[in-house]
Amino acid sequence: MHIAMVGSGYVGLVSGACLADFGHNVVCVDSDQKKVESLKAGKMPIYEPGLAELVANNVRHNRLSFTTDLVGSVGKADAVFIAVGTPSRRGDGHADLTYVYQAARDIAAGLDGFTVVVTKSTVPVGTGDEVERVIREARPDADFAVVSNPEFLREGAAIDDFKRPDRIVIGIEDPRAETVMREVYRPLYLNRAPFVFTSRRTSELTKYAANAFLATKITFINEVADLCEKVGANVQDVARGIGLDNRIGGKFLHAGPGYGGSCFPKDTQALIKTAQDYDAPIRIVETVSAVNDQRKRAMARKVFAAFGGSARGKTIALLGLTFKPNTDDMRDSPAIAVVTALQDGGAKVHAYDPEGMEQAKLVLDGLTYFNDPYSCCAGADALVIVTEWDEFRALDLTRVKSLLTSPVMIDLRNIYDPAEMARRGFAYSDVGRGGKLAV
Ligand SMILES: NC(=O)c1ccc[n+]([C@@H]2O[C@H](COP(=O)([O-])OP(=O)(O)OC[C@H]3O[C@@H](n4cnc5c(N)ncnc54)[C@H](O)[C@@H]3O)[C@@H](O)[C@H]2O)c1
Repeated sequence: MHIAMVGSGYVGLVSGACLADFGHNVVCVDSDQKKVESLKAGKMPIYEPGLAELVANNVRHNRLSFTTDLVGSVGKADAVFIAVGTPSRRGDGHADLTYVYQAARDIAAGLDGFTVVVTKSTVPVGTGDEVERVIREARPDADFAVVSNPEFLREGAAIDDFKRPDRIVIGIEDPRAETVMREVYRPLYLNRAPFVFTSRRTSELTKYAANAFLATKITFINEVADLCEKVGANVQDVARGIGLDNRIGGKFLHAGPGYGGSCFPKDTQALIKTAQDYDAPIRIVETVSAVNDQRKRAMARKVFAAFGGSARGKTIALLGLTFKPNTDDMRDSPAIAVVTALQDGGAKVHAYDPEGMEQAKLVLDGLTYFNDPYSCCAGADALVIVTEWDEFRALDLTRVKSLLTSPVMIDLRNIYDPAEMARRGFAYSDVGRGGKLAV
């Protein structure tokens, strides 16, 4: 099949490369000329494990190419995917669909023969209807079907998620599109991956319901962690104790600094807005979003507590800036709120992240960046772990202790053992494990 992927960001590039790997002929389109040039030169614009190799291999086999020419890429395509960004709209939190509709107009201009237009971007209920209307208005003569096929991949594990998905959700209104979509995902179909064929609106809502549910699970355990701190219980044991119940499941029950990233914050907001517009408010998600927003900044209070209530004049070493490990994505990372709150409280911040520092420099000011965890700790008054990169799980703690001016560690990801940290002489605090700071 010939496939055009419109938008070559985290989702478009991974999806395009994986579809090429399935044997399709894929052209990845992006309006960002620099991005396309860098891709053509074999340089990945994002960090995602395994992506550079996957892209190089499929380019070598002439199954994958890159262009800025959207209109020209559509004519030959059997399926055109829309994988552009749908950020929060400034001011009201609705999903900003400007990029989606612009892509739809450009696609309309290039359509030639029956083509399936697939929305992979996360879009509110009814966007598929509007995409169809936009294309129909521009090209009353065109033969096309608009499909919803939301993406569930996780950054950091994106290739595996795309190739071995828990499910593929496809919303169609025109039965001809089903044949094309089965062919697009043929290898997964043959491997008996679960397909959910449904209506377009159901498919669109399914994506938001999934993200809102996961955000709720995280926020639930975070609030349980807060209670654990007050009553002297251990949230990790609570999470295990409830997670072993199959009805609950153990995933997404890790207490921490609150969820961030390019999806959960904006998708919960967009769902809240849609639900309010349709007079069916989802109050539980409204609360989840509000609780999570406050939580990220509140994490800085754990640092202030380590110094008797104020960290003014202190230097804080911060490890991990991205919203999770194995990505360079800084969008809505909890680290942004933590760093800002520390700076507002008069502290200086030293920071290190294995992949995120270039992106961090675009959103955070006034930090000093270091090239490894140890130089970051040197001369600092406390160490804060914000993102659980593997390389932070096995730090040389003797060395860390000798580099810090006082042995204070605030572990926002619960990766160290409170008892061992106490044995090593650290004043150690965590999230919800009763690890009380005694400085
Ligand atoms: N990042 C994730 O983990 C993830 C997971 C599932 C779903 N999603 C959803 O997928 C969509 C894309 O997310 P992303 O993280 O890949 O975004 P991104 O910002 O990384 O990539 C979007 C790309 O689209 C390009 N673009 C915008 N308008 C264009 C146009 N008219 N023509 C061609 N290119 C255009 C941009 O230049 C950019 O490179 C969003 O709706 C997001 O919610 C993201």
